[in-house]
Order: sequence, then C-alpha cells, then structure tokens
Amino acid sequence: MARITAGVATSHVPAIGAALDNGKSGEDYWKPLFAGYEYSKDWIAREKPDVIILVYNDHASAFSLELIPTFAIGCAESFNPADEGWGPRPVPVVEGHPGLAWHLAESLILDEFDMTIVNRMDVDHGLTVPLSLMFGQPDAWPCKIIPLAVNVVQYPPPTGHRCFNLGKAIARAVASYPEDLKVVVFGTGGMSHQLQGPRAGLINKQFDNAFMDQLISDPKAQSGVSHLDYVREAGSEGIELVMWLIMRGALSDKVCVKHRFYHVPASNTAVGHLILESEG
Ligand code: DHB
Ligand code: FE
Repeated sequence: MARITAGVATSHVPAIGAALDNGKSGEDYWKPLFAGYEYSKDWIAREKPDVIILVYNDHASAFSLELIPTFAIGCAESFNPADEGWGPRPVPVVEGHPGLAWHLAESLILDEFDMTIVNRMDVDHGLTVPLSLMFGQPDAWPCKIIPLAVNVVQYPPPTGHRCFNLGKAIARAVASYPEDLKVVVFGTGGMSHQLQGPRAGLINKQFDNAFMDQLISDPKAQSGVSHLDYVREAGSEGIELVMWLIMRGALSDKVCVKHRFYHVPASNTAVGHLILESEG
C-alpha cells in the first residue's frame, strides 16, 4: 500500500529561485538562507520519496480572476514551469503521477472535498521554488510530483480547519492506494509577509515561531485560528500558512521534528522550514 512517511513545510519566495537560477546563492545575502536547507537536501536524498503531494498556491500564473478553484489537483502526466513575466524558470518539467492523482481526486471528492480536476496546468514559483530548495538544480526532479493548488489569493480562502481536515482526508486516500509507494507531503508558502499597502514589508517573528510550535504540538488548536488573526499578525500574504495545515493533517498526531529553520529576510518574506516525520 502507499504510505505517507513525512511532511515538509517551506516558504516559496520567487527571489530564492532567481538567486539559484542566476548563480547568486553564494552571495552574503543568500548564503545563510541556503545553509538552512543543507540538512534538508541530505534528508530527502536519504528519504527517497516515490511521490510528493505538493500543496502550494498559484499566483495568477495558471489561474486568474476568471477561474478560482479553492482546491485543485493536477492529474496530468506533466506540468511545465510557468512564464511569470520573465520567461519560465530553467528548471525541469514536473512529472506527475496520474494514477495516484486520480485516486486522490476520487477518494477526496467522495469524502466530500470538492476538488477541481486539472488536466493541463503550468506551475509557478509556489511549486518550483520549494523543489529547488529541497533538490537543488538537478537535470530532472528525482520523483513524481502531484500539484495540489489552494486558493489563498482571492478572498475567501479555505479555513485552516478545512485545510487540516483535507490533510486527514489525503492521508486516508493515500492509505487506500494499492501500489507500494512512499509519499511525502509538502505544505508551502508563508511565513509572515505583506507585499502591498501601508503594511508592506511586515514580518512577525513571534507569530511565525509560535505558529511552528503549535503546528507541531497541537495542530488541532492551530486549525482554529481565523483568517483575520493570520492577516492581522502575519500580513495579507501570511494567509498562505493555512497550506501548512494540509501537510500537518496528513501526518500522524505525534510527529518527530527532523529539522527546523527560520530566517529573515528573503526579499519581503520571513522564511520558515520544517521537516516532520510521522510517528506511530
Ligand atoms: C514574495 C513572496 C511571495 O510569497 C510571493 O508569492 C511573491 C513575492 C516576496 O517576498 O518578494
Ligand atoms: Fe506567494
């Protein structure tokens, strides 16, 4: 049977991708950020997942205000890097896993989560930057990737509570897939940041660290935090953090923290990163 062994959470700042793509990761500004992912690259090389379910948000690259799915699952054979205005990132094409993706779609929809099924979609920095942070710059991504896009751009995004429960439903769905697959779930986006308006540049270290503490130890309590609290404390783009709850919901109640990293700033953003292994 397929099984979820671990979860990875990470911010997805586009400037991180640009730093890597343009050979700037050794510069003083970026060195401490990439140092925080050295352990992670070793860990994932040892973990060797067959499939990553990558929970992320699209930034008006694949979707627009014409079409706003709350939850969308990529069922295609492959997904191209999106052109976000400067040409597509020079990263490998993302190979999907249509078998598991269709199983997830069926299981989640029959479990009363209304997933949008996507058969063609380009993937932007929300998905490709986390892959670059975890795998570096390979010629091909070393495993299959199922994109799971969440609307956190246009109000109203899904609640933290619904995201946490979607994670639990993903765990049930994976456990009923007959193929022997090792699956890791990524929750991406965050941490505190606001890109526009009078509060642009907002960072809240205290909130970010308390969020990581509670996500680890009491995710049910964290799932009760309201949108207003995220936006007030973590800025308008801090709402991306609800996606970390999908990853957390897919793991067991008790988790082992393999790695924890926090760094400010990367562009306008506080960067947070966790590697959690399911226990029991
Ligand atoms: C930045 C962060 C984001 O999450 C994003 O989607 C775009 C830009 C930034 O900090 O520059
Ligand atoms: Fe973003």
